[in-house]
Amino acid sequence: MVAVAGWWGWRTLEWMWLKPKRMEKHLRSQGIKGNPYRIFFGDFKDSAAMTKQNQTNPIAISDDIIPRLLPFIQKTINTYGKKTFMWFGYMPRVHIMEPKLVKEVMSKNFVYLKPKSNPFGRMLVGGLGIYEHDQWAKHRKIVNPAFRMEKIKLMLPAFHVSCVEMINSWEKALKESKEVDVWPYLQNLSADVISRTAFGSSYKEGRKIFQLLTLQTGLVTQALSTLYIPGSRFLPTKRNMRMKKIVKELEHLLTNMINKRVEGLKNGETNNEDLLSILLESNFKQGEIKGMTIKEVIEECKLFYFAGQETTAVLLLWTMVLLAQHQEWQHRAREEVLRVFGNDGDPNFDGINRLKIVTMILNEVLRLYPPIIEMTRIIEEDMKLGESLHLQAGTSLSLPILLLHHDKEIWGEDAKEFKPERFAEGISNATKGHVSYFPFGWGPRVCIGQNFALLEAKMAVAMILQRFSFELSPSYAHAPYRIVTIKPQFGAPFILHRL
Ligand code: HEM
Repeated sequence: MVAVAGWWGWRTLEWMWLKPKRMEKHLRSQGIKGNPYRIFFGDFKDSAAMTKQNQTNPIAISDDIIPRLLPFIQKTINTYGKKTFMWFGYMPRVHIMEPKLVKEVMSKNFVYLKPKSNPFGRMLVGGLGIYEHDQWAKHRKIVNPAFRMEKIKLMLPAFHVSCVEMINSWEKALKESKEVDVWPYLQNLSADVISRTAFGSSYKEGRKIFQLLTLQTGLVTQALSTLYIPGSRFLPTKRNMRMKKIVKELEHLLTNMINKRVEGLKNGETNNEDLLSILLESNFKQGEIKGMTIKEVIEECKLFYFAGQETTAVLLLWTMVLLAQHQEWQHRAREEVLRVFGNDGDPNFDGINRLKIVTMILNEVLRLYPPIIEMTRIIEEDMKLGESLHLQAGTSLSLPILLLHHDKEIWGEDAKEFKPERFAEGISNATKGHVSYFPFGWGPRVCIGQNFALLEAKMAVAMILQRFSFELSPSYAHAPYRIVTIKPQFGAPFILHRL
């Protein structure tokens, strides 16, 4: 008994103190700096408190957004320089601020892995988003065909219907007041687009799935806001029971929908128009053994919502905010849209591909307000990164997209300014070929929905510009804050003028 207690005591000491201290020494010996390790929580509590504090009041629209979004990393870098780490609990997290190193980390996705999320997180994000190694490679191969441009092109009519509905609802809202909070409408638009493109004719069930997932996101976010106690998800609390019920309902809805499609496929029906059909057809081609199970297909469908909805909604939101702030660019973009499509022509694929100014604007919005501001990775074996950095197994890495996108050493003194002209000759020209711009990630795990999101965004921006001119309402309070993506904390009231 004493021996067992002693062994546990030793293990705990090793885990909570000795190992972190060894890792700290190892990092410091290579000139990587950070705060001294504090038992168990590390910098976690300070970082959370600082973020909370910095998000109490709105800021001026011209203010730097980093202190609101990544204050602790910024403070660490300001204090110790660019080669730094912070303590994410008992784990050191090294900040990767050099484009060359970002490239290396993102290229070697079989060694730089995604940190394991806690079981509550896995209720929301599964599938491709969390798999590693062979399982990831297999799923990526099966899902890829659904996101090829020739398939996404076929989804354009679905994008269009959703945009028309949003525009109509703005027109209706304008009868009541000139001021419209566009944020809920944009969220609804991107949810609607996924429901239609993922599930086509089963659009109504798709909407129901989305509503359940939104509910689940709220419950999971609550559960994640406290420290996870192993096993706590099995306790029969009200929240746990509700979450389990939602999981069951989701599975039921998706299984029914998938089974119907699988039957159709077996009977030789082909319906190539929505993501689910393309995914099932691609899966079917692999045969029963190499393909995904129904449960796995369900996870991928849920991921489309989770990964594709908020990200695209916030891209549209910050585009509207920046175009309201920079009216000259709003005029230029509208001029281009009217030149290509006229006042009321429907945006088509070829025309959308000719929108040079709109593309430059979206690239610049994704630079200044990347929907995902940070990616993290972890290594399970000792690794050499770049020429000379030696990392020990268990070290985690932060790739702070937002900091690299705002770095004056990379982008010049005007790095924080909205200047779409940077992208006049395309992305590789603006970045001189470096991986200093990666709103969609980079390398083999680059966002699978990138083309989908950009096409949707271009269609929506074009249709908004055709119908309305807009400015920020005096009641708008600038307050980007982070819950997975960068959202407007107090909504986004705009003054819309019908053209
Ligand atoms: C503006 C919109 C979007 C942005 C900024 C964005 C950003 C990202 C980023 C940064 C990653 C890489 C995460 C990492 O490696 O840790 C990613 C992965 C992913 N995204 Fe997106 N995304 C967007 C839209 C979409 C859409 C519309 C979909 C699907 C409908 C989607 C599906 C995915 C999936 C499935 C992955 C995981 C890929 C893998 O690990 O192989 N995303 N996204």
